[in-house]
Amino acid sequence: MNVLITGGTGFIGALLARTHVRRGDGVVIFDVSPNMNRIDDIRNDVSIIQGNLAFASEVNNVVRDNRIERILHLGSMLSAPSDAKPWASFQANVIGTVNVLEAARMFDAGTVVFPSTIATFGLDTGKVAYDATVQHPTTMYGCGKAYCENLGRFYRTRFGVDFRGIRLPSVIGPGAKVRHVSQYNAWMMEYPLRGMPFECFVTEDTRMPTMYFKDAANAVDAIASTPSDHIKTVNYNVGGITPTTSARDIEQVVRRHVPDAVITYVPDPAIMAYYKTFTIETFDDSRARKEWGWCPAYPDIDTVLLDFKAELDEHPDWYA
Ligand SMILES: NC(=O)c1ccc[n+]([C@@H]2O[C@H](COP(=O)([O-])OP(=O)(O)OC[C@H]3O[C@@H](n4cnc5c(N)ncnc54)[C@H](O)[C@@H]3O)[C@@H](O)[C@H]2O)c1
Repeated sequence: MNVLITGGTGFIGALLARTHVRRGDGVVIFDVSPNMNRIDDIRNDVSIIQGNLAFASEVNNVVRDNRIERILHLGSMLSAPSDAKPWASFQANVIGTVNVLEAARMFDAGTVVFPSTIATFGLDTGKVAYDATVQHPTTMYGCGKAYCENLGRFYRTRFGVDFRGIRLPSVIGPGAKVRHVSQYNAWMMEYPLRGMPFECFVTEDTRMPTMYFKDAANAVDAIASTPSDHIKTVNYNVGGITPTTSARDIEQVVRRHVPDAVITYVPDPAIMAYYKTFTIETFDDSRARKEWGWCPAYPDIDTVLLDFKAELDEHPDWYA
């Protein structure tokens, strides 16, 4: 099968590229700024096209020229950059997704998987976010993703494009560099594992639903492989670590594995202001579990931490 992975040298996309290479698929990566370090081991096994999702012709060409049969559309600006540059985010995330859906429609490119976000929920959500909870996003990133989820559903019903969307919680793993509201979850593990002190920028009781990056890739792969007639809800919440842990919960697990860890708390008022509006403690993914059998392989902090350490030890260059 020929698989296009937009954003395929990113944090999650590189894992999926590796999965498809292992299966013997033709893998085409389309990325505006390819990070070759992340795919060093498979760089000779994939085609890499440097291109911008915002340009329809570039997206059309890559889909047509490579006879693409599945699109994993991971290319996106993330939350902090989207809010810093909302107009660029509109081009990359919203116009980019329109371009991917159009290319899928015109060139009959098979299943399209779209990772959306817990940030599509916002005001008035309460403590539990269900699949049917009304989405009132407050960020540029969340607004764009909510629109694209619904646009994908429209392309599915109107044009028969086999679109499926998953809403991921905050995704954690090694090597992330950008400080944003939930990055403390990963750095609380990564800094001590690297022997560095960590100054946590949220309060000890702060909670954000999270998922290990390998489970994010697993979820993309699982929904992509599900027969179309099982896909009823179309856009699904997908959970990872359950129940949602506080910063202090993570610290306690880290200290069991790294007894001399140096972790202090200096909450950043700007980030804590965000947590006044973010109320979700439970990210209910029962429809994903029921309709396509979702089940995380890394459901708790201990399991995540052990794999996190193995990744840092075995692949220091990927996460440098
Ligand atoms: N990381 C998270 O916490 C998280 C949470 C929810 C959803 N998601 C979604 O999962 C997907 C993958 O995220 P990630 O964590 O791997 O992010 P990432 O930033 O590591 O990877 C995204 C990739 O997209 C590429 N890209 C950005 N703009 C582009 C453009 N205009 N044209 C082509 N390529 C472009 C980047 O160069 C990058 O390689 C994204 O759609 C993201 O919104 C991520």
